[in-house]
Amino acid sequence: MSNLQIEINKRRIFGIISHPDAGKTTLTEKLLLFGGAIQKAGTVKRNKAEKTATSDFMEIEKQRGISVATSVMGFNYKDRKINILDTPGHKDFAEDTYRTLTAVDSVILVIDCVKGVEEQTRKLMSVCRMRHIPVMVFINKMDREGKDPFDLLEEIEKELNISTRPLSWPIGIGSTFAGVYHLYKKQLKLFSAENKMNIADDFIEVEDLSSIELERQLGDKAARKLRDEVELVEGVYEPFDLTLYRSGYLAPVFFGSAINNFGIEELLDTFVEIAPEPQARETDKRTVQPNEEKFTGFVFKIHANLDPNHRDRIAFCRVCSGKFERNKFYQHIRSNKKLKFASPTSFMADAKSLVEEAWPGDVIGLYDAGNFKIGDTLTEGETLKYLGIPSFSPEIFKELENMDPMKTKQLEKGITQLVDEGVAQLFTQNLGSRKFVGTVGELQFEVIKFRLLHEYGASCNFRAISFTKASWITSNDQNQMEKLMRSQANRIAFDKENRPVYLSNSKWDIDSTMREYPDVVFHETSEW
Ligand code: G4P
Repeated sequence: MSNLQIEINKRRIFGIISHPDAGKTTLTEKLLLFGGAIQKAGTVKRNKAEKTATSDFMEIEKQRGISVATSVMGFNYKDRKINILDTPGHKDFAEDTYRTLTAVDSVILVIDCVKGVEEQTRKLMSVCRMRHIPVMVFINKMDREGKDPFDLLEEIEKELNISTRPLSWPIGIGSTFAGVYHLYKKQLKLFSAENKMNIADDFIEVEDLSSIELERQLGDKAARKLRDEVELVEGVYEPFDLTLYRSGYLAPVFFGSAINNFGIEELLDTFVEIAPEPQARETDKRTVQPNEEKFTGFVFKIHANLDPNHRDRIAFCRVCSGKFERNKFYQHIRSNKKLKFASPTSFMADAKSLVEEAWPGDVIGLYDAGNFKIGDTLTEGETLKYLGIPSFSPEIFKELENMDPMKTKQLEKGITQLVDEGVAQLFTQNLGSRKFVGTVGELQFEVIKFRLLHEYGASCNFRAISFTKASWITSNDQNQMEKLMRSQANRIAFDKENRPVYLSNSKWDIDSTMREYPDVVFHETSEW
């Protein structure tokens, strides 16, 4: 086997997704603890934007700054090099999360057993399904009085449109939570709430569920209940099918309590066994295999340095194929420039370090003085562009007003760079003289205003406008397309790639336009 293939086989790259508060941060931290990447809980800087008041946006920006290191967290576990990509849970940063999902090969979805499937869970899972990303589910907070596990599984299947297969089964819940039974390893793991900081590794082999050992461990009632439920599970669910999981149709499910360190090891052990290694990826020209000799990669995230004296940024690049080397020239496809990187960085837990080389499934941080936009591709010369960084329609639109005509240039530059970073989407009309900024949350407008002023010296205002949705439009019928663009010119704008979008303010509005122009296709995302 080639060295390249060996390195590929070692790597796993995944994201943890959840509705805020389900336990994503806690689980991340516990995984790092198991991986030996951190020594005690509490080390992971909390990306707690969700707990901050809307007005306190500077705090969020500070935290975004701090979270540079935690955007990618690498650790080693059982001969694997695992990268967790952090995904902000807060709704206002959902775009960030969607884009991060283009760089992973699988995800772990955390669900709070009390709340079940929540709003952000639905949205994030729809992205996973669209991209056929394999999903493992961790049902968290089993130490709380939650929903019945069978009901939870049914809810997940119905609401998230994915089949499930429990691989562990909880014994009781909340005050009666006694542990989990691992359905494949046939092991019983007993719960103790005191295990907060250490790794619980005491399990009991129970080959035969009818054994009296079960009564001894759990008591009569719980033992009987477990037997009945396991029988039901084995009767209802098909055996776990790896292919279905890998193609995104079947989610293995684990139960546990992240804060109590419980159920994590089973999750992690199964993850390293079944989660896909770095996968082939689509470009506009062809599918690129990870074991191709030549390096390719793409930028999925850009972090601004908030210190105005050091205006450099870090572009996070996922290596997709071949070997990346420090100080070697690579082709930046969009600008057709050759770039080399003197200090590419790798991320292990909360530490950054210089790397000489990187392999498919690695994420490298590239210091950038403004060359990169999200979605940019790097290659050894071949002209191709990685697909799959779609934009979704923003939910809030406002018109950008320049408050200081002397600083027009700075405003243009600032807003362009912030859009490149993915802070917001920009749609323009009248050759750019009208600018509509679209976001998924009010918070971003404050952030943009603040950053334009402090980083670019440009002051602006945002004026409310009535649009609520952007649909990218295409048509095979040029006449119809032109007619629409002419007759509804006030609703047509152009995205940063100069693609036309139709801006609507109600479902009724877009529906009636769609009826009037049946040969124009209205796309939900910027890629189709
Ligand atoms: P998030 O990143 O998904 O937003 O969630 P996070 O891990 O921050 O967890 C949200 C809250 O749920 C935290 O409590 C955390 O301690 C708690 N939690 C996580 N796992 C479990 C669990 O297994 N059982 C129980 N009972 N609670 C759990 P908090 O009070 O909001 O924050 P903190 O003060 O503990 O930081």
